[in-house]
Amino acid sequence: MHILPQASARPDYAMLVKQVASILEGERDLVANASQFAAFVYDTIADLNWAGFYLARPDKAGTGEELLVGPFQGKVACARIPFGRGVCGAAAATRTTILVPDVHAFPGHIACDSASNAEIVIPLVQDGKLVGVFDIDSPTLERFTLEDQAGLEAMVAAFLDATDCT
Ligand code: SME
Repeated sequence: MHILPQASARPDYAMLVKQVASILEGERDLVANASQFAAFVYDTIADLNWAGFYLARPDKAGTGEELLVGPFQGKVACARIPFGRGVCGAAAATRTTILVPDVHAFPGHIACDSASNAEIVIPLVQDGKLVGVFDIDSPTLERFTLEDQAGLEAMVAAFLDATDCT
């Protein structure tokens, strides 16, 4: 049984990173760990309306890869996103974190939940391979700071260390 801290808009990320490692310890399965991680982020970080995974999977034509929705918390979302489209596709294509203060000003943003106003998407790279992205949405404009970005990247790194993604 893990006691979770109260959701905070300015969480103690060093503590959350330790808790991710502790919660995922002893399990390396992708679906299990991704589910636990999405639930943990959604529960411990305040003011979110969506948190979850898009995983790199073969596209329907069988000619390349695209992003397919994975374990998440929040409203029903778009299932498939081509690399390069929207915030998630941009993070996947560039393998860099994309922090969006106002999603309405981001060209090509895909509106899955009309409540979303700010978003941050962190690429998941394991053994040199892009395995997906972790996407977080907030109803509050400018919700995510550079401090949040560093903290969330550290949490995602702890998830990747604990999980076999391929
Ligand atoms: N807004 C994202 C799509 C995914 S949802 O936010 C869950 C995007 O533009 O990639």
